[in-house]
Amino acid sequence: MKIMVTGATGQLGGLALQHLLQKVPASHIVAVARSSEKAAALAGLGIEVRQGDYNDPESLRNAFRDGNKLLFISSSEPDDPLRVVQHANVVKAARDAGIKHIAYTGFAFAEDNPFALVHLATEYAIRTTNIMYTFLRNGGYAEFFINPSLKANVENGTIVTNTNKRKVNAVSRSDLALAAATVLTGEGHENKEYNLVSNDPWSFDDLAEIVSEVSGKSVVHQSVSFEEEKNILVQSGMPESFAQITAFIYDTIAAGNMERTTDDLHKLIGFQTPVKELVIKALQG
Ligand SMILES: NC(=O)c1ccc[n+]([C@@H]2O[C@H](COP(=O)([O-])OP(=O)(O)OC[C@H]3O[C@@H](n4cnc5c(N)ncnc54)[C@H](OP(=O)(O)O)[C@@H]3O)[C@@H](O)[C@H]2O)c1
Repeated sequence: MKIMVTGATGQLGGLALQHLLQKVPASHIVAVARSSEKAAALAGLGIEVRQGDYNDPESLRNAFRDGNKLLFISSSEPDDPLRVVQHANVVKAARDAGIKHIAYTGFAFAEDNPFALVHLATEYAIRTTNIMYTFLRNGGYAEFFINPSLKANVENGTIVTNTNKRKVNAVSRSDLALAAATVLTGEGHENKEYNLVSNDPWSFDDLAEIVSEVSGKSVVHQSVSFEEEKNILVQSGMPESFAQITAFIYDTIAAGNMERTTDDLHKLIGFQTPVKELVIKALQG
């Protein structure tokens, strides 16, 4: 049995490999990376590394040869039409190489979020092949919001967003990676879709309370408008394009589009890393 993992040099892919190594021998895992040099450290773990670029169908077909299962991690390409083409390249190469099961990392409740159209397109592309699939519809990464930059919030006593009081169903990358490894090494996940979100969504008011508790300093959440938030982020030194995306994600939360919840993640992995634990790690990092 060979499990191929794309995006192996990325954050989610790296964590998925770590979890897979706890479940199957390294000889059953193949890391597919666009840069073999970047993936060199993985070979040291006994994992075979093969070169495969989402823009190069031939490289993907070659990388997927003799594979049984594929963890297809979505591309980080920002140009969505190009991303659709890249994903179609992966799906076609998987079919041509005879892959029997594709686990694809999309986005939770994709039909509710305009920025998740690429993931819907990819899910439909996979369905056209009749290959068995599992749609791992990942929630937003908690680390996008809970990371060492919170130390600056502790210093100035505020977390400023344009989320109002709405909640977000974000979860840690490691929990999502464990869910992927569980699906790829377990049974009964064929032709299923899982919305892998928190079963206990949290607001930024909640986050401020937890940060106050962990740091021992008072931190409050202040909600502002989209434009104000964007300007604050730019003034703090964030590049304008990233500030725009961040304020847009907060707006999506404010619209209630990242509040829906399921128990899918909890059922797959048996737990969910609490926000407090992520805050402790972020403030230590
Ligand atoms: N759920 C969420 O909140 C959320 C947020 C952001 C992104 N995402 C999606 O989830 C994916 C995984 O997240 P992540 O945090 O692990 O992202 P990441 O750390 O940026 O990793 C992305 C991976 O995709 C690989 N990749 C990019 N272009 C490629 C190409 N042309 N051919 C082959 N591989 C290519 C990268 O290779 P290199 O190492 O060579 O760059 C890297 O291994 C992202 O790519 C994105 O689609 C989800």
